[in-house]
Amino acid sequence: MIERSKLEAAGVFEMKFLFHKPGEQPRGTVTWMAFVVVVVSLSIVLAGLAAQAPEPTFSKDVASILFKNCAKCHREGQIASAVPLLTYEAARFRADKIKRKVAAREMPPWPVDPARSLRFRNDARLSQKDINTIVAWVRGGAPKGDDADLPAIPKSEEGWMHPQGLKPDLVISLPGDVHVPAQGEIPYVSLLVRVPLSEDRWITASQTRPSNPAVVHHMALTEVALPDGLGPADLGQAARQMGIANGLFAARPAVTTPSILNQIDMLGIYTPGSTVEVYGDGSAKLLRGGKNMYLDFNIHYEADGKPDTDRSSIAFWFQPGPPEHQLFRVNGAGETILANGKELLTDARGTKAEGTKVVIPPIPPFAGHYELVGVTGYPQAVTIYQFQPHAHHRGKDFTYSVVYPDGHEQTLLSVPQYDHRWQMAYELETPLKLPAGSKIVVTAHYDNSKMNMHNPGPEKQVYFRDQNQSWDEMFTPFIQYSIDSQNPAELHAKAASQSQDEKASTSVQQRSTDKGSLQTGEVVGCLVAAPSGNWLLTKASQPAVSDAQATTSTALKAAEAKPLGNQRYQLLGVKMFNPSRRQGEKVAVKGILIEDANGIRINVTSLQSVATNCAQ
Ligand code: HEC
Repeated sequence: MIERSKLEAAGVFEMKFLFHKPGEQPRGTVTWMAFVVVVVSLSIVLAGLAAQAPEPTFSKDVASILFKNCAKCHREGQIASAVPLLTYEAARFRADKIKRKVAAREMPPWPVDPARSLRFRNDARLSQKDINTIVAWVRGGAPKGDDADLPAIPKSEEGWMHPQGLKPDLVISLPGDVHVPAQGEIPYVSLLVRVPLSEDRWITASQTRPSNPAVVHHMALTEVALPDGLGPADLGQAARQMGIANGLFAARPAVTTPSILNQIDMLGIYTPGSTVEVYGDGSAKLLRGGKNMYLDFNIHYEADGKPDTDRSSIAFWFQPGPPEHQLFRVNGAGETILANGKELLTDARGTKAEGTKVVIPPIPPFAGHYELVGVTGYPQAVTIYQFQPHAHHRGKDFTYSVVYPDGHEQTLLSVPQYDHRWQMAYELETPLKLPAGSKIVVTAHYDNSKMNMHNPGPEKQVYFRDQNQSWDEMFTPFIQYSIDSQNPAELHAKAASQSQDEKASTSVQQRSTDKGSLQTGEVVGCLVAAPSGNWLLTKASQPAVSDAQATTSTALKAAEAKPLGNQRYQLLGVKMFNPSRRQGEKVAVKGILIEDANGIRINVTSLQSVATNCAQ
């Protein structure tokens, strides 16, 4: 008799469907003859299969799949340490669950829609062959096999997961254990640890890691420079004397983007699911050396029901010289933010949402599809290497897309079912080059309804605060990118020779005339739909250079008074600003100005009505 498991392994799941449809009677002798023929031929096929592919065993077939695809989370010190999968006994114990999770493609987590995304080199999906092997192993009774076949457990240098098993060149850890109380809301901590380097180094790989993932909700690491002669303790004291809560007031970021966005480079991020990052493609991140350099561990601890401790660290692997491209990690689409279609003004009063320039209105109770759209224009040619969307329990989906300077649009990453339990950094297989004047648009939805099984309280309003607890929300679509026109060695020399004050006083005009950089402009005009479906600004003013991509109530007042002109511009990527509702109105527009033989196009980053008609 053929074992059911073997038939199933060969893809014959429900034999009765071979002979009659559900509800139909079997068709007598013909069916029986067919049965005999099928069984005989299947026996032959299976005998052949059995000869070629013996039943999978843990040691020979399954361990290597688990080690390669599951171990980074399912081992001691990692996020799924409660479900270890490194030994036969551990895997055997939950074999059925493993089968179910991999067959349904729920594990390993990879919440990307591949049809609407670029390709990623850390794509975690198992091959169908590996899934079949695991399923066949479990159906065959999950045998252990021969110990001699067992591959080595993947090396981890004291928990550091460099793919080649390399020891880190430098590990910077918190100086001691942080005590985390059993209960309650814990304010973010900001802990400064000295960078023990006298010279700058280029980072080719890094890993940010809590010693106790159960209490670390997330952490963000930046490098800061303290004024000469001041240590972290002096800062804390000075801050207290001045009545300032945040001792970091005198610190300045060590690494910022040289573009007009002038954002702070986020050195490392830890969220559940984070693991080692290896940069490659001629790119690296900068770690500044010097006597006043400190890492700021900004950590959000979360109580886990018992008093606990953590001592987080970051590990670095360096390369000897500068790379071709310096990497910056920033919020990739946060210059302008729209909430449910309404563009938010950067001078509105209230608490700005963490990492943004605006006050994001709270998500109402039971709202199932609250929408945020973030927009950032890139005045310089850039290359994108990585995406990392971040939200909390109500996060529902994220989509990153780009509007190119010729107007065409492309979806880059679609995460249709965002899950805060595993927040991946998606590493592009081929880094994406965006010409100067491109715009990144990220759309996220939040589900505060009962349909969201992770929702801790649908009846509550959910706030975007400046220090968010896990029951608050965040909108942080990180990217890692480089600026193509900049040579890191040159850039680096320039940054070193320029003081912060000089940098701050460099005018927009100067900064935006950097090699290959376009300008951000501001115009008023009449919003008109062209027969081609394009949106145009007619009777428009000459562009004025702007230092911000988003707008303020003051700027809108000024725009209202500004006379129309005789310019005409094509507007790119405006659908999030709901143009059909403003057709024929006088509008104030900001965006990246792209000029060629056909005139000026504007890749729009702000569009607001300033008068309901365009008669003047
Ligand atoms: C990115 C990290 C990550 C990777 C990679 C990963 N898992 Fe998981 N897995 C988790 C987390 C976190 C949980 C716990 C989910 C929860 O709390 O509900 C989990 C849960 C599970 C469970 C359910 C345990 C239970 O008792 O409900 C199984 C089974 C499982 N994983 C198997 C696998 C297998 C097999 C692989 C590799 C093929 C894998 N996982 C890869 C993070 C991961």
